[in-house]
Amino acid sequence: MKIELNTNERIYEVDVEPYESLNQVIRHKIGLMGTKRGCDTGGCGACTVLLDGQAVYSCMVPAARAEGKKVTTIEGLCNNNKLDPIQDAFVEKGAIQCGYCTPGMIMSAKSMLSQNSAPSEKEIKDSIAGNICRCTGYVKIVDAISAAAETIREGE
Ligand code: FES
Ligand code: FES
Repeated sequence: MKIELNTNERIYEVDVEPYESLNQVIRHKIGLMGTKRGCDTGGCGACTVLLDGQAVYSCMVPAARAEGKKVTTIEGLCNNNKLDPIQDAFVEKGAIQCGYCTPGMIMSAKSMLSQNSAPSEKEIKDSIAGNICRCTGYVKIVDAISAAAETIREGE
């Protein structure tokens, strides 16, 4: 079936099978490879995107169900070649090692920070509880999200 996907403020017309996930379509039909595919079973968070602002596992959402909603991927956070404060903070705080989890982590943080720019450490940890990182030990990721929250508050 043909569907229209509003992804990063652009409409893509794509031909999808009923069983195809949003993750498959974003990566292989739209060509945005920043969203990762990890477990493909809803257990790692590497595929996290925003659907109408809410963080979702794109491997668990049939692409056809995303029609009529706003999909935001990691590529959509960059504005006029300027990184999002969360992206900047991940770089500055050294919260990235292999980077495989990073897009999903950032999208989960984005969803939380857009509703709460003054999160407690627990709220930060809760926001990324569904995102697995095999490399960093999470401390620098939590630091980066906290620093991004501070930057966002300064700009409010
Ligand atoms: S690839 Fe979607 S949760 Fe792991
Ligand atoms: S930086 Fe490698 S999995 Fe998180």
